[in-house]
Amino acid sequence: MKKILVTGAFGQIGSELVPALQKKFGKDQVVAMGHKTVTSNFDGILEKADTRDKDILASIIKKYDIVDVYHLVSLLSVGGEKDPKVTWDINVGGLKNILELGVEFGLKIFWPSSIAAFGSTTPRDNTPQETILEPTTMYGVTKVTGENLCRYFNIKYGLDVRSVRYPGIISWKTPPSAGTTEYTVAMLYDGVQGKGNTCWLGPDTMLPMMYVNDAIKATIDLMDTPVLKIKLRGSYNLAAVSFTAKQWEEAIRKHIPDLKVSYKPDERQKIADSWPKSIDDSQARADWGWKHEYSLEKMTKEMVENLRKEFSIS
Ligand code: SER
Repeated sequence: MKKILVTGAFGQIGSELVPALQKKFGKDQVVAMGHKTVTSNFDGILEKADTRDKDILASIIKKYDIVDVYHLVSLLSVGGEKDPKVTWDINVGGLKNILELGVEFGLKIFWPSSIAAFGSTTPRDNTPQETILEPTTMYGVTKVTGENLCRYFNIKYGLDVRSVRYPGIISWKTPPSAGTTEYTVAMLYDGVQGKGNTCWLGPDTMLPMMYVNDAIKATIDLMDTPVLKIKLRGSYNLAAVSFTAKQWEEAIRKHIPDLKVSYKPDERQKIADSWPKSIDDSQARADWGWKHEYSLEKMTKEMVENLRKEFSIS
């Protein structure tokens, strides 16, 4: 049975990907690696390490005889602007380490890019797979660099590295993180707890979004796809639904009628305005059969139910 390493295992996506992989392959097959965000009640194999440290990474890969790596560690758009240098070191340095170790140990690697790879010069509606990539955040710069690195390592060394550009991910297990699209999660966290929410984007801001279950499915499906079907070694565009902040508020209000939201766009508005409104992901759908399952209504219902359970609110 193959052993899997997940870096960034306690972040927004890792917190859901690890249990999904444990369920699919068994608890003993999945090594969850975290650094600052490790949770104390984790049930499974745990390693605490920094992906900037290549020697420690190599020793973990050897120790468990790792075959597949899901390299999720990343600072996001808002957190990244606070310290662009550290963002570069973690996002690019960590990825470069993983790719080099991938060549050395013959690993198969998943690494996520993001809609942040696009910028204000990119067409914003139905953004094509091949288009202008001129990001305005350090996070986006590291994603474009990462896409190029992945492609290069595939061309030069034949490394089996696979990638998608995640849209904004909507999830409930971790609190809203330092991203622009996480206004969605923040509105729900506040709404479910009966608190007023101040949305940091304007009501008409439209962004591409995806429920975390769909993101996990895409991630695992891409890794399961036979190698010959993978035609792109940069990152595949990936999409589910697009909606405005106001439409998100209205979808939540169907479940929480007394939801109170006020709109106070801040510096995050500029970031959101540089990203696509919708994405053309037809190549992912054609090459490896990607198909999303969660509509706006379905994800809102599930998010509210899960968060009510989480906060023990009936
Ligand atoms: N959720 C991310 C962010 O907003 C986008 O990849 O930074």
